[in-house]
Amino acid sequence: MSSEALQEYIKSSQERVNNRLDYWLQRQEKLAPRLVEAMHYATFNGGKRVRPVLAFAAAEALGGSPEDAVDVACALEMVHSYSLVHDDLPAMDDDKLRRGQPTCHIAFDEATAILAGDSLQCLAFEVLAQSPLPSMNNDIKVHMVQTLTQASGTAGMAGGQALDLDGEGKKLDLPDLERIHRHKTGQLIRASVTMGAMVVADHTSEQLKALDEYADAIGLAFQVWDDVLDLIGDTETLGKQQGADLALNKSTYPSVLGLEAAKEHAMKLNQRAQQALDRFDHKADILRALSSYIISRTH
Ligand code: IPE
Ligand code: IPE
Ligand code: MG
Ligand code: MG
Ligand code: MG
Repeated sequence: MSSEALQEYIKSSQERVNNRLDYWLQRQEKLAPRLVEAMHYATFNGGKRVRPVLAFAAAEALGGSPEDAVDVACALEMVHSYSLVHDDLPAMDDDKLRRGQPTCHIAFDEATAILAGDSLQCLAFEVLAQSPLPSMNNDIKVHMVQTLTQASGTAGMAGGQALDLDGEGKKLDLPDLERIHRHKTGQLIRASVTMGAMVVADHTSEQLKALDEYADAIGLAFQVWDDVLDLIGDTETLGKQQGADLALNKSTYPSVLGLEAAKEHAMKLNQRAQQALDRFDHKADILRALSSYIISRTH
Protein backbone atom coordinates (compact mmCIF):
# COMPACT_ATOMS: atom_id res chain seq x y z
CA MET A 1 0.00 0.00 0.00
CA SER A 2 1.43 3.41 -0.96
CA SER A 3 1.95 6.01 1.73
CA GLU A 4 -0.57 8.27 -0.06
CA ALA A 5 -3.19 5.52 0.16
CA LEU A 6 -2.43 5.01 3.84
CA GLN A 7 -2.70 8.76 4.53
CA GLU A 8 -6.04 8.77 2.71
CA TYR A 9 -7.24 5.82 4.81
CA ILE A 10 -6.12 7.52 8.04
CA LYS A 11 -7.89 10.75 7.04
CA SER A 12 -11.20 9.08 6.28
CA SER A 13 -10.93 7.03 9.49
CA GLN A 14 -10.31 10.20 11.48
CA GLU A 15 -13.43 11.78 9.97
CA ARG A 16 -15.51 8.70 10.75
CA VAL A 17 -14.46 8.52 14.39
CA ASN A 18 -14.57 12.29 14.91
CA ASN A 19 -18.19 12.47 13.73
CA ARG A 20 -19.19 9.71 16.08
CA LEU A 21 -17.18 11.11 19.03
CA ASP A 22 -19.01 14.37 18.52
CA TYR A 23 -22.34 12.52 18.52
CA TRP A 24 -21.59 10.85 21.88
CA LEU A 25 -20.19 14.00 23.48
CA GLN A 26 -23.20 16.06 22.37
CA ARG A 27 -25.38 13.64 24.30
CA GLN A 28 -23.52 14.16 27.57
CA GLU A 29 -25.43 15.58 30.52
CA LYS A 30 -24.80 19.35 30.69
CA LEU A 31 -25.15 19.53 34.48
CA ALA A 32 -21.61 20.95 34.67
CA PRO A 33 -21.00 22.56 31.25
CA ARG A 34 -17.31 23.35 31.87
CA LEU A 35 -16.63 19.68 32.59
CA VAL A 36 -18.18 18.63 29.28
CA GLU A 37 -16.25 21.41 27.55
CA ALA A 38 -13.01 20.02 29.00
CA MET A 39 -13.93 16.51 27.81
CA HIS A 40 -14.50 17.91 24.34
CA TYR A 41 -11.21 19.83 24.48
CA ALA A 42 -9.29 16.73 25.53
CA THR A 43 -10.80 14.64 22.75
CA PHE A 44 -10.85 17.13 19.88
CA ASN A 45 -7.36 18.56 20.05
CA GLY A 46 -5.82 16.90 17.03
CA GLY A 47 -4.90 13.35 18.08
CA LYS A 48 -3.75 11.00 15.33
CA ARG A 49 -6.53 8.52 16.18
CA VAL A 50 -4.16 5.57 15.80
CA ARG A 51 -6.26 3.27 18.01
CA PRO A 52 -9.48 3.90 16.05
CA VAL A 53 -7.61 3.41 12.77
CA LEU A 54 -6.25 0.09 14.05
CA ALA A 55 -9.73 -1.06 15.06
CA PHE A 56 -11.10 -0.20 11.60
CA ALA A 57 -8.20 -1.89 9.85
CA ALA A 58 -8.54 -5.05 11.99
CA ALA A 59 -12.22 -5.29 11.04
CA GLU A 60 -11.27 -4.88 7.38
CA ALA A 61 -8.55 -7.54 7.62
CA LEU A 62 -11.27 -10.05 8.51
CA GLY A 63 -13.51 -8.89 5.66
CA GLY A 64 -15.72 -6.72 7.87
CA SER A 65 -16.80 -3.12 7.56
CA PRO A 66 -15.07 -0.36 9.51
CA GLU A 67 -18.47 1.25 10.14
CA ASP A 68 -19.28 -1.66 12.43
CA ALA A 69 -16.31 -0.73 14.62
CA VAL A 70 -17.12 2.97 14.98
CA ASP A 71 -18.34 2.76 18.58
CA VAL A 72 -15.43 0.54 19.53
CA ALA A 73 -13.18 3.22 18.03
CA CYS A 74 -14.88 5.92 20.12
CA ALA A 75 -14.50 3.93 23.34
CA LEU A 76 -10.80 3.32 22.64
CA GLU A 77 -10.11 6.96 21.83
CA MET A 78 -11.95 8.12 24.94
CA VAL A 79 -9.86 5.90 27.19
CA HIS A 80 -6.71 7.00 25.36
CA SER A 81 -7.60 10.72 25.59
CA TYR A 82 -8.39 10.35 29.28
CA SER A 83 -5.03 8.63 29.83
CA LEU A 84 -3.24 11.57 28.19
CA VAL A 85 -5.09 14.16 30.30
CA HIS A 86 -4.02 12.37 33.47
CA ASP A 87 -0.51 11.61 32.12
CA ASP A 88 0.05 15.36 31.66
CA LEU A 89 -1.02 16.34 35.20
CA PRO A 90 1.57 17.84 37.56
CA ALA A 91 1.43 14.68 39.69
CA MET A 92 2.45 12.61 36.66
CA ASP A 93 4.52 13.97 33.75
CA ASP A 94 3.67 17.63 34.42
CA ASP A 95 3.44 18.61 30.76
CA LYS A 96 2.09 21.86 29.39
CA LEU A 97 1.76 21.05 25.71
CA ARG A 98 -0.30 18.27 24.13
CA ARG A 99 -1.28 17.85 20.50
CA GLY A 100 0.05 21.36 19.87
CA GLN A 101 -2.16 23.01 22.47
CA PRO A 102 -2.07 23.73 26.21
CA THR A 103 -2.72 20.54 28.17
CA CYS A 104 -6.18 20.15 29.65
CA HIS A 105 -5.18 21.21 33.17
CA ILE A 106 -3.52 24.34 31.79
CA ALA A 107 -6.45 25.28 29.55
CA PHE A 108 -8.92 24.56 32.37
CA ASP A 109 -7.64 23.70 35.85
CA GLU A 110 -6.35 20.58 37.57
CA ALA A 111 -9.59 19.55 39.19
CA THR A 112 -11.50 19.91 35.93
CA ALA A 113 -8.82 17.94 34.07
CA ILE A 114 -9.03 15.10 36.61
CA LEU A 115 -12.80 15.01 36.33
CA ALA A 116 -12.73 15.27 32.55
CA GLY A 117 -10.46 12.21 32.49
CA ASP A 118 -12.74 10.35 34.88
CA SER A 119 -15.80 11.22 32.81
CA LEU A 120 -14.19 10.27 29.52
CA GLN A 121 -13.38 6.89 30.99
CA CYS A 122 -17.00 6.44 32.10
CA LEU A 123 -18.29 7.56 28.73
CA ALA A 124 -16.11 4.98 26.98
CA PHE A 125 -17.92 2.17 28.77
CA GLU A 126 -21.29 3.85 28.35
CA VAL A 127 -20.66 3.90 24.60
CA LEU A 128 -19.87 0.17 24.58
CA ALA A 129 -22.91 -0.65 26.70
CA GLN A 130 -25.31 1.57 24.78
CA SER A 131 -24.08 1.17 21.23
CA PRO A 132 -27.08 0.56 18.98
CA LEU A 133 -24.99 -1.02 16.21
CA PRO A 134 -26.14 -4.49 15.08
CA SER A 135 -22.50 -5.63 15.09
CA MET A 136 -22.51 -5.23 18.88
CA ASN A 137 -24.84 -7.77 20.47
CA ASN A 138 -24.97 -8.15 24.24
CA ASP A 139 -22.49 -11.05 24.37
CA ILE A 140 -19.98 -9.12 22.32
CA LYS A 141 -20.52 -6.02 24.47
CA VAL A 142 -19.70 -7.93 27.66
CA HIS A 143 -16.60 -9.35 26.01
CA MET A 144 -15.57 -5.87 24.89
CA VAL A 145 -16.03 -4.40 28.35
CA GLN A 146 -13.81 -7.18 29.73
CA THR A 147 -11.17 -6.50 27.08
CA LEU A 148 -11.13 -2.74 27.56
CA THR A 149 -11.17 -2.83 31.37
CA GLN A 150 -8.26 -5.27 31.39
CA ALA A 151 -6.33 -3.17 28.91
CA SER A 152 -6.83 0.06 30.84
CA GLY A 153 -6.81 -0.97 34.51
CA THR A 154 -4.24 -2.40 36.88
CA ALA A 155 -3.27 -5.14 34.41
CA GLY A 156 -2.92 -2.62 31.61
CA MET A 157 -2.46 1.10 31.09
CA ALA A 158 -2.94 2.27 34.70
CA GLY A 159 -0.63 -0.46 36.00
CA GLY A 160 1.99 0.49 33.42
CA GLN A 161 1.69 4.16 34.29
CA ALA A 162 2.25 3.32 37.96
CA LEU A 163 5.43 1.40 37.06
CA ASP A 164 6.53 4.23 34.77
CA LEU A 165 6.24 6.77 37.58
CA ASP A 166 7.93 4.46 40.03
CA GLY A 167 10.84 4.10 37.61
CA GLU A 168 11.61 7.82 37.41
CA GLY A 169 15.14 8.56 38.47
CA LYS A 170 16.04 4.86 38.50
CA LYS A 171 18.21 3.09 35.97
CA LEU A 172 15.92 0.38 34.63
CA ASP A 173 17.05 -2.62 32.63
CA LEU A 174 15.47 -3.73 29.37
CA PRO A 175 13.01 -6.28 30.87
CA ASP A 176 11.75 -3.62 33.33
CA LEU A 177 11.30 -1.11 30.55
CA GLU A 178 9.61 -3.60 28.26
CA ARG A 179 7.16 -4.44 31.05
CA ILE A 180 6.28 -0.76 31.48
CA HIS A 181 5.84 -0.14 27.76
CA ARG A 182 3.79 -3.27 27.11
CA HIS A 183 1.41 -2.17 29.83
CA LYS A 184 1.18 1.60 29.68
CA THR A 185 0.80 1.68 25.89
CA GLY A 186 0.86 -1.84 24.45
CA GLN A 187 -2.27 -3.18 26.10
CA LEU A 188 -4.59 -0.51 24.73
CA ILE A 189 -3.14 -1.00 21.25
CA ARG A 190 -3.74 -4.73 21.57
CA ALA A 191 -7.29 -4.05 22.68
CA SER A 192 -7.78 -1.81 19.63
CA VAL A 193 -6.97 -4.65 17.25
CA THR A 194 -8.87 -7.28 19.26
CA MET A 195 -12.00 -5.17 19.61
CA GLY A 196 -11.94 -4.18 15.94
CA ALA A 197 -11.79 -7.88 15.10
CA MET A 198 -14.62 -8.72 17.49
CA VAL A 199 -17.23 -6.84 15.47
CA VAL A 200 -16.70 -9.29 12.62
CA ALA A 201 -18.64 -12.45 13.37
CA ASP A 202 -16.87 -14.56 10.81
CA HIS A 203 -13.35 -15.26 12.09
CA THR A 204 -11.27 -18.20 13.30
CA SER A 205 -9.34 -18.45 16.56
CA GLU A 206 -6.12 -18.74 14.48
CA GLN A 207 -6.90 -15.41 12.86
CA LEU A 208 -7.50 -13.77 16.24
CA LYS A 209 -4.28 -15.24 17.57
CA ALA A 210 -2.30 -13.92 14.61
CA LEU A 211 -3.87 -10.48 14.97
CA ASP A 212 -2.95 -10.47 18.63
CA GLU A 213 0.67 -11.35 17.82
CA TYR A 214 0.68 -8.47 15.36
CA ALA A 215 -0.84 -6.11 17.94
CA ASP A 216 1.56 -7.19 20.67
CA ALA A 217 4.52 -6.29 18.45
CA ILE A 218 3.17 -2.94 17.25
CA GLY A 219 2.00 -2.01 20.75
CA LEU A 220 5.53 -2.21 22.05
CA ALA A 221 6.93 -0.65 18.88
CA PHE A 222 4.57 2.30 19.30
CA GLN A 223 6.05 3.23 22.67
CA VAL A 224 9.63 2.50 21.57
CA TRP A 225 9.12 4.99 18.75
CA ASP A 226 7.46 7.48 21.12
CA ASP A 227 10.66 7.30 23.19
CA VAL A 228 12.78 7.78 20.07
CA LEU A 229 10.72 10.81 19.04
CA ASP A 230 11.18 12.35 22.49
CA LEU A 231 14.88 12.40 21.64
CA ILE A 232 15.01 13.20 17.93
CA GLY A 233 11.68 14.95 17.28
CA ASP A 234 11.00 18.65 17.51
CA THR A 235 8.40 20.18 19.79
CA GLU A 236 6.39 21.81 17.04
CA THR A 237 6.00 18.66 14.94
CA LEU A 238 5.44 16.47 17.99
CA GLY A 239 2.85 18.82 19.46
CA LYS A 240 4.36 18.00 22.85
CA GLN A 241 7.59 19.01 24.57
CA GLN A 242 10.62 17.31 23.06
CA GLY A 243 13.05 16.02 25.70
CA ALA A 244 10.34 15.55 28.34
CA ASP A 245 11.56 12.04 29.25
CA LEU A 246 15.10 13.26 29.72
CA ALA A 247 13.92 16.14 31.91
CA LEU A 248 12.06 13.69 34.17
CA ASN A 249 14.96 11.26 34.22
CA LYS A 250 12.87 8.45 32.77
CA SER A 251 14.44 5.31 31.38
CA THR A 252 13.54 4.99 27.71
CA TYR A 253 14.54 2.64 24.89
CA PRO A 254 17.17 5.09 23.58
CA SER A 255 18.52 5.72 27.08
CA VAL A 256 18.83 1.99 27.82
CA LEU A 257 19.85 0.67 24.38
CA GLY A 258 21.25 3.74 22.63
CA LEU A 259 19.44 5.54 19.82
CA GLU A 260 20.49 3.33 16.91
CA ALA A 261 19.74 0.09 18.77
CA ALA A 262 16.36 1.47 19.83
CA LYS A 263 15.53 2.21 16.19
CA GLU A 264 16.69 -1.27 15.17
CA HIS A 265 14.55 -2.76 17.90
CA ALA A 266 11.53 -0.92 16.51
CA MET A 267 12.33 -2.29 13.05
CA LYS A 268 12.55 -5.83 14.40
CA LEU A 269 9.17 -5.43 16.06
CA ASN A 270 7.77 -4.24 12.72
CA GLN A 271 9.17 -7.38 11.06
CA ARG A 272 7.56 -9.52 13.75
CA ALA A 273 4.24 -7.76 13.17
CA GLN A 274 4.49 -8.29 9.40
CA GLN A 275 5.25 -12.00 9.88
CA ALA A 276 2.24 -12.41 12.14
CA LEU A 277 0.07 -11.37 9.17
CA ASP A 278 1.68 -13.89 6.76
CA ARG A 279 -1.49 -15.88 6.30
CA PHE A 280 -3.73 -12.88 5.69
CA ASP A 281 -4.59 -11.71 2.18
CA HIS A 282 -4.58 -8.18 0.76
CA LYS A 283 -7.36 -7.16 3.16
CA ALA A 284 -4.66 -6.91 5.85
CA ASP A 285 -2.59 -4.46 3.79
CA ILE A 286 -3.77 -1.52 5.89
CA LEU A 287 -2.58 -3.25 9.08
CA ARG A 288 0.73 -3.99 7.33
CA ALA A 289 1.14 -0.35 6.32
CA LEU A 290 0.15 0.88 9.78
CA SER A 291 2.88 -1.18 11.41
CA SER A 292 5.52 0.43 9.19
CA TYR A 293 3.99 3.86 9.78
CA ILE A 294 4.16 3.43 13.56
CA ILE A 295 7.95 3.11 13.47
CA SER A 296 8.58 5.87 10.94
CA ARG A 297 6.12 8.59 11.97
CA THR A 298 7.40 12.04 12.86
CA HIS A 299 4.77 12.67 15.56
C1 IPE B 1 0.82 9.26 22.92
O1 IPE B 1 -0.06 8.57 22.10
C2 IPE B 1 0.98 8.55 24.21
C3 IPE B 1 1.45 7.18 24.07
C4 IPE B 1 0.76 6.17 24.46
C5 IPE B 1 2.76 6.95 23.51
P1 IPE B 1 -0.32 9.04 20.61
O2 IPE B 1 0.98 9.27 19.92
O3 IPE B 1 -1.26 8.08 19.96
O4 IPE B 1 -1.02 10.45 20.83
P2 IPE B 1 -2.12 11.21 19.99
O5 IPE B 1 -3.43 10.61 20.34
O6 IPE B 1 -1.84 11.10 18.53
O7 IPE B 1 -2.01 12.64 20.48
C1 IPE C 1 2.09 7.74 28.13
O1 IPE C 1 3.40 7.57 27.84
C2 IPE C 1 1.32 6.52 28.01
C3 IPE C 1 -0.04 6.73 28.49
C4 IPE C 1 -0.67 5.77 29.04
C5 IPE C 1 -0.71 8.02 28.39
P1 IPE C 1 4.21 8.93 27.70
O2 IPE C 1 4.18 9.71 28.96
O3 IPE C 1 5.50 8.62 27.09
O4 IPE C 1 3.31 9.71 26.61
P2 IPE C 1 3.63 11.15 26.06
O5 IPE C 1 5.01 11.11 25.50
O6 IPE C 1 3.46 12.09 27.20
O7 IPE C 1 2.62 11.35 24.97
MG1 MG D 1 3.97 9.34 30.98
MG1 MG E 1 3.81 11.84 29.18
MG1 MG F 1 6.48 9.77 25.60
